[in-house]
Amino acid sequence: MLLNTASWPEVDAYLKRSKGIVIPIGSTEQHGPNGLLGTDAICPEVIAREAAAEAGFLVAPTFSVGSAQHHLGFAGTITLRPSTMIAAINDWIDSLARHGFKRMYFLNGHGGNIAPIATAFAENYAAWSLDGDVCPFKCRQRNWWELDGVMSLCKEIFPEGDGSHATASEVAVTYYAHPEAVKNVEMSPKIAPEGDFTDAANYRATFPDGRIGSDPSQATPEKGARLVAAAKAGLIRDVEAFFKS
Ligand code: NI
Repeated sequence: MLLNTASWPEVDAYLKRSKGIVIPIGSTEQHGPNGLLGTDAICPEVIAREAAAEAGFLVAPTFSVGSAQHHLGFAGTITLRPSTMIAAINDWIDSLARHGFKRMYFLNGHGGNIAPIATAFAENYAAWSLDGDVCPFKCRQRNWWELDGVMSLCKEIFPEGDGSHATASEVAVTYYAHPEAVKNVEMSPKIAPEGDFTDAANYRATFPDGRIGSDPSQATPEKGARLVAAAKAGLIRDVEAFFKS
C-alpha cells in the first residue's frame, strides 16, 4: 500500500494490523552523463514499492531531496543543508509517530544522506531521553545496496566499472524503473577516476563529467530488473524482522 494513494480510513485500518512504515529516502543530484537526476530517490522507491506489493507493508512518499552540496556544480542538482535535512526528517518521524507508527524504516539511496539520517535519529532519541520520557518508536536506516544479496550481484553483473558514484548498478535500476528515460551516451574516459572531494567546485574539478570510478554505459533495464528482484527479497526479510523487533 502506498501512503500517497491511500485514504485516511485505509491508513487507520492499516495501523490496526501493523505499526510499521517504509520511507524511501534519496537525493536529486547529477549522476553523470547518462544518469537521471532522480537516481538516488528512484532506486529506493522502486525497490520499496515492489516489495510492498508483495509483502503488504505501507510505503511513505519518497523523501527525494537530500544532502548533495558537492553536486551543485552540475545543472539540476538540489540540496538541503544537513541541518535542514535533519530537521525535516524529524518532522516526518514525529508526524508518523503521532498516528501511532512505531517502526520507521528508511530505505536510503544516497551516501551523502547517511550521516544526516543517523544524526536525525540521534536528535530525536536525545529529546526523549533529556525529557525523561520513553521513546515509543524505533527508526532504522538501510542503504539499498547493502541489502542481502545485492552487492554480490552488483559485482557479478558489473565486474569492472561499477564505481562509487553514478554506478552502473544504480543507473541500471533507474532504467528498469523508467525505460522511457534510457540515455545512450559514450563515456570518456571509459571508466571515470576514483578519488575524494570537498565542496561543489572541488568535485567538478576532480570529476569533470560527474562520475566516480564508474562506466554506467553498461547499464540496461534487464540488468536493473535482476538487481531490483534481489533487493526486493532482501528488503522484505529485513523489514519483516525490523517490524517484529
Ligand atoms: Ni547515486
